[in-house]
Amino acid sequence: MRIGPWQLPNPVFVAPMAGVTDRPYRQLCKRLGAGYAVSEMAASNPRLWNSVKSSRRLDHQGETEPVAVQIAGSDPDMMAEAAVFNIGKGARIIDINMGCPVKKVCNVASGSALLRDEALVARILDSVVRACRPHGVPVTLKTRTGWDCASRNAVRIARLAQDLGIAALTLHGRTRADMYQGRAEYDTIRRVKQEVEIPVVANGDIDTPEKAQYVLQYTGADAVMIGRAAQGRPWIFREIAHFLATGTHLPPPVFGELRACLLEHLEDHYRFYGEFTGVRSARKHIGWYLADMPGAQTLITCINQAERTTDQVRALEQWFDQHPPNEPICTAPAALAA
Ligand SMILES: Cc1cc2nc3c(=O)[nH]c(=O)nc-3n(C[C@H](O)[C@H](O)[C@H](O)COP(=O)(O)O)c2cc1C
Repeated sequence: MRIGPWQLPNPVFVAPMAGVTDRPYRQLCKRLGAGYAVSEMAASNPRLWNSVKSSRRLDHQGETEPVAVQIAGSDPDMMAEAAVFNIGKGARIIDINMGCPVKKVCNVASGSALLRDEALVARILDSVVRACRPHGVPVTLKTRTGWDCASRNAVRIARLAQDLGIAALTLHGRTRADMYQGRAEYDTIRRVKQEVEIPVVANGDIDTPEKAQYVLQYTGADAVMIGRAAQGRPWIFREIAHFLATGTHLPPPVFGELRACLLEHLEDHYRFYGEFTGVRSARKHIGWYLADMPGAQTLITCINQAERTTDQVRALEQWFDQHPPNEPICTAPAALAA
């Protein structure tokens, strides 16, 4: 699987998730086998670039190449400007978000709301591709199958994208109206793959190695992208990549490995966010790691009440001390809630 000049090590990608796939988490996923990761979306409006949130999202220090940055917005010139600005900050691939269904994005006619206006989609793609070309930076598009089931226009959007020079397309097998309801469907992804020659990445509800293999075979897609099933399970990438390459399963992680992985993640997370924000934003990650663990509810309550990073770490260490390091952890697939 290639994106422009970048040959990726495997076809198992981390989905961009705002508030989740920050630099520490992307880097952890890459270390644990993800072939590629896209940053959380960055605003295209220059007035927002100096906010604390944006400056964190613009920080790619130490990230394994290629650094891919997602941009969102609806003004073609602003999107082009945002792309070039992010290239200046280290982006080597620019991804355009036309998949996000949330109101904050849709109300300003960006994210998946753009799917209703194909002429505007064309102007945005053209503008961003032209702006990135002199920098040798490929542009990708992430989208859904359409606005609603009566207007599934992913095939037309895909052809448009290919004609305008988009280097790869990620398709989430739901419409905007679906939000995260029901099951992702893969027929549209399969049709899109038959219609275009650019690489297609299949996304939606992939949570096991077998599901990844099925989706790749059924759709003919070049890669899979995993979002919610990777929350608290960053090793899912190596499990899937290993299964796709060999047809055999890796053994589940053991407690000793979970301990090392989680504490390392937290160290990087606290360093990235600082004490005040770090202790708070770590809660959701810790909750995901521990969600399936028998008897972890008291610990999770304690983690959520902790006001200092050292208290979170101490509580976790005490809990891990009670578990033999060689005991395999429970790895039931995560419930896919948005
Ligand atoms: C918390 C959360 C935040 C998300 N943020 C983004 C985003 O910033 N950009 C984007 O293109 N998609 C975003 N998504 C959508 C995911 O990238 C992905 O398309 C979707 O979750 C379906 O994949 P999954 O079933 O593997 O989770 C987000 C999803 C979640 C759950």
